[in-house]
Amino acid sequence: MAEKGFVPTMGALHAGHAALISAARKRSNHVVVSIFVNPLQFNDPKDLEKYPRTPDHDRELALAAGASEVWFPTVEEIYPSNPELVKAGPIGEVFEGFSRPGHFDGVLTVVKRLFDLVQPDFAIFGEKDFQQLFLIKQMVRNFNLPIEIIAHPTIREADGLALSSRNIRLSSEDRAKAAIIYKALNSSRDQMNAVLASEPAWKTDYATIINPENFKEEFAPKQRAIIAGWIGGIRLIDNMEYKE
Ligand code: PAF
Repeated sequence: MAEKGFVPTMGALHAGHAALISAARKRSNHVVVSIFVNPLQFNDPKDLEKYPRTPDHDRELALAAGASEVWFPTVEEIYPSNPELVKAGPIGEVFEGFSRPGHFDGVLTVVKRLFDLVQPDFAIFGEKDFQQLFLIKQMVRNFNLPIEIIAHPTIREADGLALSSRNIRLSSEDRAKAAIIYKALNSSRDQMNAVLASEPAWKTDYATIINPENFKEEFAPKQRAIIAGWIGGIRLIDNMEYKE
């Protein structure tokens, strides 16, 4: 029997999601795409309310990219009773987790539930959400789930901006200015914060180099530059392997 591939999403699908879905389809003809805006992972109710919802477009894009099934679960299906939270642990409390308390518990809780319902053989996640990817891999190991987690490289616009469902909320001026993130990711450790500070519309939350094995700011054979902040009130994050 063909392997079952799974691409969980929150909808507002774009070319980045299409790349995950077609990567899954290359591996198997059985690809489930879920579209569920998970209330548990929004610490700011306004952010949840404003999250873009484009179901017709999402279905079309998912099918065109290679999904064999597009699933729009309801909140009742995912959380029939008060969900018992899957705790992300210490790495869920730094960087994104520090700025968005409880966010990763919400992500892991929904991903575990989706995995239980879909029972995939493999699931694909984008590297743009690098800390999320790390924590999902950790959860799969902790629960000993028989699911292969595949990381897919970030898809970027021509100026380097990582594709994100949030980008459509940027004004055209802010969209152009957001290219500063990629410029900073490509600069040296010493220059990264100065490059970001050169764009007055950008407000940094964190910009640093970490050891991707433990999210500590320490030297390691492979390092990762991670950046988060706001432009025009929209939170954007990105990361890249850092080579000195
Ligand atoms: O990356 C996302 O879109 C979400 O965090 C995920 C993994 C679908 C869980 O809601």
